[in-house]
Amino acid sequence: MTDVTSPAYTGPRRVFSGMQPTGGLHLGNYLGALVKFVRLQDDNECLYCIVDLHAITVDHDPKTLQQQCREVAAAYIAAGVDPERSIIFVQSAVLAHTELAWIFNCVARMGWLQRMTQFKDKAGKNAERMSVGLFDYPVLQAADILAYKGTHVPVGEDQKQHLELSRDIAAKFNNDFNAPGFFPLPEPLIQGPGARIMSLRDGKKKMSKSDPSDMSRINLTDDADAIANKLKRATTDSLPIPDTVEALEGRAEVENLVGIYAALSGETPAQVLGVWGGQGFAAFKPALADLAAAKLAPIADEMRRLLADPAALDRTLRHGAERAHAIAAPIMDDVRRIVGLWGPGR
Ligand code: TYM
Repeated sequence: MTDVTSPAYTGPRRVFSGMQPTGGLHLGNYLGALVKFVRLQDDNECLYCIVDLHAITVDHDPKTLQQQCREVAAAYIAAGVDPERSIIFVQSAVLAHTELAWIFNCVARMGWLQRMTQFKDKAGKNAERMSVGLFDYPVLQAADILAYKGTHVPVGEDQKQHLELSRDIAAKFNNDFNAPGFFPLPEPLIQGPGARIMSLRDGKKKMSKSDPSDMSRINLTDDADAIANKLKRATTDSLPIPDTVEALEGRAEVENLVGIYAALSGETPAQVLGVWGGQGFAAFKPALADLAAAKLAPIADEMRRLLADPAALDRTLRHGAERAHAIAAPIMDDVRRIVGLWGPGR
């Protein structure tokens, strides 16, 4: 988008990512992002956010939003994010996000946002009637990351374009305000077999919370019966499972199920095909269901346990917000100074 380059950023490496508290999380969120959150905390400072400000860009129920934030927090922790090592917090609890988003609104260009495919997909023919916030969504996302000078962002493939926009905003800010290397250009961490999990009903659509059919996705809280039933009815074809990755070409639904198996078992798709090639789905689907249930059942159990004590979860989130604020506050002081703003407390 822009040809602005900035000299290398020399600050610390810092991981940032977020999920929307809109409905329960599904296998795509888990394999595309959450498993990476857990892995990265071993050798990085990590911030994992629950992005409630993003959730209000479309219709939402104010009565349930806070509880949905707790549910995402519980899912993070139940999946293995350690709230002592990593910072888990709710976006609206740290005001830097909205302030920096406004400043970035004055850096980002209309044309950049008009090219965002996720807005076009969500708005369809109704773009004129969508909220300005939905259009502006990726600018807030850039602010989320850069309020902490986030350098690495674990996400699924659907977020790739938003991350490119974050890099463009960071580069233009550095350039426009003659602050070379002030913001890092955040790097997406997308690779891995779970980067793009597709709908169980249609291999051309991604698995999504907004799909009206619950049969299209496996939720983190589905029990073993529900998982088995959904996989049993998952779309496939009448051919046997192929022997090679190349032969998955043109068989999107089969490729998706093999990819899910590989992501859950920690094998490559080629290894999965080495075992299952030549066999039918009548054997493969129950094995996949068992594998998924074995991974997800302990997470669902732990989520239930955590959600039974909302006061403890709220304390964890408050502690996370304090730690996040402590990182963002000096960065925002610098941002205001660089931009020439008055700022609070003068
Ligand atoms: P959200 O809430 O839609 O999704 C959360 C994470 O799950 C990934 N994901 C998938 N990965 C693989 N296959 C799928 N079918 C699938 N569906 C979802 C997403 O890529 C994401 O990583 N805009 C973000 C939230 C956000 C954010 C941020 C992320 C706000 N600010 C800053 C990173 C950094 C979103 O809507 O995620």
